[in-house]
Amino acid sequence: MAERHLNGAAPAAVQKLQAELAELSQLARSQARTLSAGFYTSPEYLKLERDRLFRDAWICVGHIGAVANVGDYFTTEFVDEQLLVVRDTGATVKVLANVCRHRGSRVMQGAGTAARLTCAYHGWTYALDGRLMAAPLMKDGASFDKKDCALKQFTSEVWQGYIFVDLAGTAPPLAPQLRAIEPYIRNYHPAEQHFLYQA
Ligand code: FES
Repeated sequence: MAERHLNGAAPAAVQKLQAELAELSQLARSQARTLSAGFYTSPEYLKLERDRLFRDAWICVGHIGAVANVGDYFTTEFVDEQLLVVRDTGATVKVLANVCRHRGSRVMQGAGTAARLTCAYHGWTYALDGRLMAAPLMKDGASFDKKDCALKQFTSEVWQGYIFVDLAGTAPPLAPQLRAIEPYIRNYHPAEQHFLYQA
């Protein structure tokens, strides 16, 4: 499969490390040596790893047992993204950006159950699917339309009860990739498990 470059040509520091990695991979076991320090200290290489391993891939952020009922939600953070996982009125699980469209405050804290998602800072209130419902002190007008201010929604999939998110929204569908292991996982009935206690 052709290697994808998420951000165009890699910076020189990354290219150097990638060349070193390619060279190391060709060495006989008797010639093996440790990675140079740059693999652990380079900010550019860290960014590449975060983009390739975590942003442009399906990552499990929780289990549907944590959002069993309409309005159940939990918040989490992943590679600098504030996430809000919620079961909306359509009974679907959504992964939203937990970042208020007003001034960027976190909309919800911790976990719980809510009929609406209300930001404590100035009271902007969102529906469970992320649509902005109320923006106190703001008036719809030429420069402001609630329809333009929904919480960002990330691509997500529920597989065998596990909630996965694809932050970049570019990963191929998840279920086909896991088809080979599905018969083994299904034996444990993970989709039927639930939480007895919430943190
Ligand atoms: S930052 Fe959320 S309502 Fe102002």
